[in-house]
Amino acid sequence: MSLDTFIEEYHRVFSRSSRTEYVPAVIKEAYNSVVIDVYGRKYIDFSSSASVVNTGYNNPKILGAVEKQLRRLIHYTHIYGFNEPALKLARKLISITGVVDGKVILGLSGSDANEGALFLSKAYNRRTYLLSYVNSFHGCTLMAAKASGIDLSRRVVRLLGEEGKTIFLPYPDCYRCPLGYTWSSCRLRCVEIVKEKIEELNGDVYGLIIEPIQGDGGIIPAPEEY
Ligand SMILES: Cc1ncc(COP(=O)(O)O)c(C=O)c1O
Repeated sequence: MSLDTFIEEYHRVFSRSSRTEYVPAVIKEAYNSVVIDVYGRKYIDFSSSASVVNTGYNNPKILGAVEKQLRRLIHYTHIYGFNEPALKLARKLISITGVVDGKVILGLSGSDANEGALFLSKAYNRRTYLLSYVNSFHGCTLMAAKASGIDLSRRVVRLLGEEGKTIFLPYPDCYRCPLGYTWSSCRLRCVEIVKEKIEELNGDVYGLIIEPIQGDGGIIPAPEEY
């Protein structure tokens, strides 16, 4: 099948709403940081598949652990019952975050994680506004889409009539500072803007959501000081 035919069928069967096409290649297999297409062409994947495969493709340690678990038990819900690997994972996640008496919800995706975080902070704080960033992307579920500043999400949220409660701040991009400063002479004006916005809203803010490295906005790292 030619690449054009392949892409044409893809467009016919997959919803456009679930796709952001960046890579015109049909990927068949991968190892370490290399992906290989159906024609045998090799590419070095500097994106780790949207930062999802940061451990490298087909990492033998992970393959081994997954295979071992799949042979023992693919799934029995840890919500109805109990299982040891789920407990070990929860323990590890809590130790990584360093949150004292942390609580874990295991989810399916980034959207799911952000939906949960936003939902919980809104329910807990009972306040009105969320702070987020211009050009941010936090996922496709409703709370996550409402929190996203990227054009595609804004259009969807507008269409649903769900606009208005997210305030979009300038992302701290030191390479192309949206405030027009150069690094260090800025004295982190972007941080002051966050404080001013919270004051302007009389503290009626239930959360702030930020990508430490803005992804779809252009792979922009926030400075450590921020
Ligand atoms: C920064 C960021 N947050 C959330 C998501 C949503 O993750 P998922 O596609 O797993 O729902 C993405 C996906 O690209 C993302 O880049």
